[in-house]
Amino acid sequence: MDLNEIQDMIDHYGEEFVTVAHPIFSHTIYQIMKTIDHHDGSAYDHCLKVAYYAYRMAKRWDWHVEATIRGALLHDFHLYQFSKRPRRSVLLEGLRHTRNHPKHALANALLYWNISGKEKDIIENHMFPFSIPRCREAWLISFIDKYVAIWEYSVRAKRTFRAKTRLKRHR
Ligand SMILES: [Fe+2]
Ligand SMILES: [Fe+2]
Repeated sequence: MDLNEIQDMIDHYGEEFVTVAHPIFSHTIYQIMKTIDHHDGSAYDHCLKVAYYAYRMAKRWDWHVEATIRGALLHDFHLYQFSKRPRRSVLLEGLRHTRNHPKHALANALLYWNISGKEKDIIENHMFPFSIPRCREAWLISFIDKYVAIWEYSVRAKRTFRAKTRLKRHR
């Protein structure tokens, strides 16, 4: 990541957020997240969005800002693209992914960073009700993740709908 990119991040997210997030998002391994499709964009964009919204709330309520940012950035650090195995039900495969990806994200995070107890809780338990968050920061990220995911899915649905209508008009 070059200095201009980091300056852009500071202009967009503010210095405090970038100071905490920078060692994670600028890491080569984390940059791979830019190539993993997730909802309407990439896993990188999704995690950054969740981390920023969660940070704003945590700051307002005087909660643990550092753990909130770091845990949120790493909550979907599973580094693979969800895809259904052949001849399996999409519902069961989706459930399997929902249950397992936080464990993969945590295992990956532990390979590259020192993860605190709060951060572990945030990553491991962000898929409530499949697991139960313990600290308030983990609850916060679990809810913000859902809010952001719904928003991203609706953007994707709108985009698909528009593309289909455009295609019909050209027939
Ligand atoms: Fe997730
Ligand atoms: Fe997520």
